[in-house]
Amino acid sequence: MRKVQITGWGMSVPEKVMTNAEIEKLVDTSDEWIKSRSGISERRICGDEESVATMAIEAGKRAIERARIDPAEIDLVILATLTDARLLPSTAAYVQEGVGARRAGAFDLDCACTGFIAGLGVAAQFIATGAMQKILVIGADAVSRILDWTDRGTCVLFGDGAGAVVVEAGDEGIPLSLYLRNDGSAANALTVPSPMGVRSELPANREFVITMDGPAIFRFAVEAMVDAAREVCDRSGIALDDFDLVIPHQANLRIIQAAARALKVPMDKVYTNVERYGNTSGGSIPLALAEAVDAGRIKKGDRILLVGFGAGMSWGALTLEWTAETASARLSEIPLAAATA
Ligand code: UT7
Repeated sequence: MRKVQITGWGMSVPEKVMTNAEIEKLVDTSDEWIKSRSGISERRICGDEESVATMAIEAGKRAIERARIDPAEIDLVILATLTDARLLPSTAAYVQEGVGARRAGAFDLDCACTGFIAGLGVAAQFIATGAMQKILVIGADAVSRILDWTDRGTCVLFGDGAGAVVVEAGDEGIPLSLYLRNDGSAANALTVPSPMGVRSELPANREFVITMDGPAIFRFAVEAMVDAAREVCDRSGIALDDFDLVIPHQANLRIIQAAARALKVPMDKVYTNVERYGNTSGGSIPLALAEAVDAGRIKKGDRILLVGFGAGMSWGALTLEWTAETASARLSEIPLAAATA
């Protein structure tokens, strides 16, 4: 089996910053409550002309530029998202066109906030078997579009964003290990109805927004992240202590801290940006990964553990070694692609 390496990375967030002070004007909450219960100070929100597709395209273009490849070399575009710009076609179809991957296949993958881990795991299989050579994996969500802005239990937590990587076959580093689980008996803890669902379950107001059992998910999340981190370490044969950086799903700083405590991982080995972006769902882990590389927190030879959980209820983890040179990489300003979807 061939090894899998990340050769390009990129992120994209909308320009519009929404602070806790702005949310205080919408629902009965406070900056103090949001910060102390979740660690979040602000999040980004898509403007009228932005969508999951525009963010995914921008993040994807940056990843392709960093990988120094021609987009026509890409064999497959996998977009992990739950906030499709349209129900049909897949948002990946717009992204394939938008990044110029004209020889690629493309599909969306819905595994909620665990989606990027699942997508990278799927891509790794195609590369490892030799079926494909270069794959663009993107995690992106515009959760602001499915929020009930009158529900203080959810609207304070989420934001919009995207992250992307290019993966290719290579000889360096440790083999990528994946652990992925789902417990469908808890599937109703975090849902968004669909107009195609059972008629009796359609919301009377036809508003398709998130409903969530926050405290139940909190308890599940800590256990799930601990389980996934331990299991993926067993699979990779590498002790948790020997990882240089853990990148968790950025749902809530308290969940991240509780899982780190249980795993005895010091917080200086855990990357967080939830304070600035909130929970960007599928975008969360790749956005944090790309930002960590650009912030100099990841260098060649570092061992990285990605760990997440989400609706489903799904959870998982993935280990890899960072094999790309980071020092010379400079992000050039690529303008947002013309609105597609
Ligand atoms: O990608 C996965 C997505 N989902 C998650 O990650 C959610 C995980 N869960 C959480 O992050 C936390 O459960 C929350 C942040 C949602 C809530 O924090 P909590 O510490 O579990 O608070 P709680 O739900 O137990 O609520 C405590 C109190 C309640 O008031 P009473 O009953 O004690 O009087 C709530 O009504 O806080 C109240 N409350 C709020 N107060 C001000 C709930 N939301 C808010 C709010 N502002 N936004």
